[in-house]
Amino acid sequence: MAAMVEIRDLRKVYAGGFEALKGASLDIEEGEILALLGPNGAGKTTLISTICGITLPTSGQITVGGHDVVHDYRHARNLIGLVPQEINLEPFEKVINTVRFSRGLFGKPRNDALIEDVLRKLSLWDKRDARIMELSGGMKRRVLIAKALSHEPRVLFLDEPTAGVDVELRRDMWETVAELKRDGVTIILTTHYIEEAEAIADRIGVINKGEILLVEAKDNLMTRMGQKELRVELTAPLTALPEALARFDVTLSDEGCTLIYSYDTSADRSGIAQVMSALNGAGLAVRDMQTKQNSLEDIFVGLVSDKEGAA
Ligand SMILES: Nc1ncnc2c1ncn2[C@@H]1O[C@H](COP(=O)(O)OP(=O)(O)O)[C@@H](O)[C@H]1O
Ligand SMILES: [Mg+2]
Repeated sequence: MAAMVEIRDLRKVYAGGFEALKGASLDIEEGEILALLGPNGAGKTTLISTICGITLPTSGQITVGGHDVVHDYRHARNLIGLVPQEINLEPFEKVINTVRFSRGLFGKPRNDALIEDVLRKLSLWDKRDARIMELSGGMKRRVLIAKALSHEPRVLFLDEPTAGVDVELRRDMWETVAELKRDGVTIILTTHYIEEAEAIADRIGVINKGEILLVEAKDNLMTRMGQKELRVELTAPLTALPEALARFDVTLSDEGCTLIYSYDTSADRSGIAQVMSALNGAGLAVRDMQTKQNSLEDIFVGLVSDKEGAA
């Protein structure tokens, strides 16, 4: 089956001549949560705006549910809900009217039961008669999501949904996204918070300077690129690495009190047993040990800085 969103060789050159997307290709599968991770200015908003038909591509093709976003804009746009990065709400309007009006814009008939359901899901039902200006920043963001869901989209784009939102609301938002996925909605979110991608995404795309550097299932990514570290605390400090340990990827730290052994989690054998037996053989006494899995953050920083090194 074709992917829900197909992006082929997408280039975007802005009027001033700046190339914000340099030939991006990406498939987004129905029902998945894809997190697009990248620093500020990477091209995340440009990519989303182009898929949603707000910005025209310079070249390349995009389809949503099989509909070309340029040539078959209405059909494509109907399938899409967009939660923009900037809050753009009418301050004097009531919450419920704001959301009803959004549905109307898509030419859908009034459906009070559906609007109630959306507002309840986002914990906005009690605030339905409040004016937008009376809401906190986090609540306004929820109204943006409610608006985006008002016409029952199959694909939801969230552009930095938790930027400037406090930790508690951020977790609520993650829960909301997980619920939408359970309802079968395909979700694409952009973020520059690595922990956000790590917490909720099925797949992660890394974008930097207009190029998609990688798209991979989160778990694969963690295993494939993830290095693990075994830290062995010794009872007495060493001045140099013993001969018996020289053939392993071991370094000394903490002024000789700790041995750090790095190993690849995807390798058949970790090599830990051999390192431990070499330690024993060298007569070293161990006070404590721990292992640590590299985080997605380590991977991301490695990727983005490798690329800069090559440029
Ligand atoms: N309308 C525009 N005209 C010219 N340059 C733009 C415009 N919008 C964005 N850019 C530039 O394109 C690059 C990518 O921007 P954007 O897609 O907003 O990145 P991100 O969302 O990842 O922070 C940035 O360098 C930005 O300055
Ligand atoms: Mg942006």
